[in-house]
Amino acid sequence: MFTVGRELDRLRAREERLGRILAQLADLCDHVLIDCPPALDVLTDNALSAADGVLIPVQAEDSSLRALRLLLGQIAAIEGELRREPLVLHGLVVSMLERGGGGVARSKLGRSVIEQFRELDLPILGTVPRSVLHVEAWRLGKTMVEYEPGGEHAQVYRALAKVLEASE
Ligand SMILES: Nc1ncnc2c1ncn2[C@@H]1O[C@H](COP(=O)(O)OP(=O)(O)OP(=O)(O)O)[C@@H](O)[C@H]1O
Ligand SMILES: [Mg+2]
Repeated sequence: MFTVGRELDRLRAREERLGRILAQLADLCDHVLIDCPPALDVLTDNALSAADGVLIPVQAEDSSLRALRLLLGQIAAIEGELRREPLVLHGLVVSMLERGGGGVARSKLGRSVIEQFRELDLPILGTVPRSVLHVEAWRLGKTMVEYEPGGEHAQVYRALAKVLEASE
């Protein structure tokens, strides 16, 4: 993927290339998840131009809040320039949360960032705690649902899948 951005630079309609490819697969797939790089680059523009909706992973940190504001601006720009219909903003997923007692963010800073996420008028669809289970699953190349099907992480991911499934 590192070279794709450069290759796209040489093409016309470079933000629309992914959409054209996915259109050919429409009959083969029920859902397509497009994993974006952590950058507002031409690859992300392709995803925002091709997708029906977005699910935005965030961390309870100021850097995430800032990146989220930039992303929302980018979404508005792509909607204005490249899309016929607006994107469905499914919501946020708070990832790698350092939890304290009562299941809320351990630090005051974390709690304040989550409070600011709430003010953005986007649903928070799930919260994934930071846990060594993720690192173990990663090492084995398994999803959390495969690695610990009965665990609370698996439940969060299943709930996210249901949100997406409901949005035909
Ligand atoms: N809830 C969690 N608790 C602990 N570790 C986690 C958790 N979620 C992800 N990780 C670990 O963080 C690392 C990065 O995860 P992942 O690739 O999902 O993040 P990413 O934001 O998509 O990264 P990139 O920006 O490189 O695409 C992996 O090693 C993963 O195991
Ligand atoms: Mg990633």
